[in-house]
Amino acid sequence: MKLFIDSANPQEVKKMWEAGIIDGVTTNPSLATKAGIDYKQAVNQILVTVNGDISLEVLSTDTQGMLREARALAKLNKNVVVKLPTTPDGLKALKILTPEKIRTNMTLVFSANQALLVGKLKAYIVSPFAGRLDDIGHTAIDVIEEIRQIYDNFAFETQILFASIRSPLHVKQAALAGCDIATCPYEILEKLVHHPLTDTGLAKFLADFKASGQKPLV
Ligand code: G3P
Repeated sequence: MKLFIDSANPQEVKKMWEAGIIDGVTTNPSLATKAGIDYKQAVNQILVTVNGDISLEVLSTDTQGMLREARALAKLNKNVVVKLPTTPDGLKALKILTPEKIRTNMTLVFSANQALLVGKLKAYIVSPFAGRLDDIGHTAIDVIEEIRQIYDNFAFETQILFASIRSPLHVKQAALAGCDIATCPYEILEKLVHHPLTDTGLAKFLADFKASGQKPLV
């Protein structure tokens, strides 16, 4: 499973890319606002840092506006994947962009039926927002598993991206359900790396060896 960072903060992206932890990036207008930095500048920095898929979202809500933005965004860099909302207008735009070979990430997906339409229209990525479903008392993993099953039933090639991650548990659920990608906030990626028992275990190995008075092997 590929790991993406869900961030519009170039420093966070650089750190995780250089550590070899991420394969790509997803951004959205809310993340840009949260980062409190100039969005255009941030995106330009991310585009030169990461050689992997970078999802950038359109801001138009009508098909024609989405098409105009999508074509312009796709021209920015070969790694750009255009994020479109999964609305009737977004699906119309998807139908037109697929034959143009513009790679799309259909976002704000909350049901298996939405994902079915996205798969039929051959999007590059579908993004079910798991955390937001769990937030309102639904069981997001059930929806994700349904999407996996439907895509396998019909050999849809659209990649399933587990989005809106709230915890390391979500990352494990994504991997177990056979998602192609999980996009994680910076803090969650950090949590994946660390375990307190690893830290205490290492400290004990070193303390025990020091106490033994023996010489290291090399
Ligand atoms: O990639 C989608 C993600 O940014 C949404 O996350 O935390 O706003 O539900 P969240």
